[in-house]
Amino acid sequence: MRKVSVIGAGNVGATVAAELARRNVADVVLIDIVEGFAAGKALDMAEAAPIVGYSATLSGSQDLEAVKDSDVVVITAGARRKPGMSRSELLSINAGVVSSISKEIKKSAPGSVVVLVTNPLDAMCYVAMRATGFPRERVVGMAGALDAARMSCFVAMELGISPADVRATVLGGHGDSMVPLPRFTTVSGIPVTELIAEKRIKEIVKRTAKGGAEIVGLLQTLSAFYAPGAGAAQVVEAIVTGKARLLAASVWAKGEYGISGTFVGLPVIIGEGGFRKIVDLALEADELQALRRSAEAVKASIAALEAET
Ligand code: LAC
Repeated sequence: MRKVSVIGAGNVGATVAAELARRNVADVVLIDIVEGFAAGKALDMAEAAPIVGYSATLSGSQDLEAVKDSDVVVITAGARRKPGMSRSELLSINAGVVSSISKEIKKSAPGSVVVLVTNPLDAMCYVAMRATGFPRERVVGMAGALDAARMSCFVAMELGISPADVRATVLGGHGDSMVPLPRFTTVSGIPVTELIAEKRIKEIVKRTAKGGAEIVGLLQTLSAFYAPGAGAAQVVEAIVTGKARLLAASVWAKGEYGISGTFVGLPVIIGEGGFRKIVDLALEADELQALRRSAEAVKASIAALEAET
């Protein structure tokens, strides 16, 4: 089986590991700096295997060198925003964390694909690409899968149908400026714009963009992890099984959609070896403008990081 390392055994990391184990697509190594934490969670998951029926192995380590020879490394480690902490403080704290992890990945898993989950997502992708020196195909941020899942969930709720029939598209940075695209959101092949009134669609778009904040508002001291964990597992599954998927993910733009020099969520075909193609959609002027505005917001946070280091 392929080897996937998941760095950070907190709620998001543990959920990614459990989701991957259930899919039985890779052996999973969970890594966390807190002594015993990753080993304990991995053992707990291994003990669930006889009941759930997976044969993937799970192990835990406190040592970053355990990423050795991974096919995929998922980075979930980092601080969460605490009360009174600014976004830019979080940016520089997590940039340090992601940068040191990435240096170890460069050394011990030089052929891997790196999947970022740590926030602020798009800026952390940049830090990982810079520190690993990997080609852009092998550094992707998981956000589009999550944001699309949220939008699909809200569409399914609105129509009272199974979410299995809904496919949503959300591009842009993983933040307030993300760009949910109703024109590219379908229910069994039917554009959602044919099924839901414009006013309600606008509400779904707004709710999607604030999806993370809605969960934090309910949980108070935690942010979301079930849907982010499932989103990351979906991306990793495409990479390790080679069953390519068309998903939105944060990737380094080199002129696509008129955007360059930043990570931003774009539709990509992703499979073995990372993403192999950025899909060019014919966006309308207002959609393109929103996407470019979102990319500018990410660019500003990358520039702030550059100014610091
Ligand atoms: C979310 C945050 C955690 O969207 O990125 O839930």
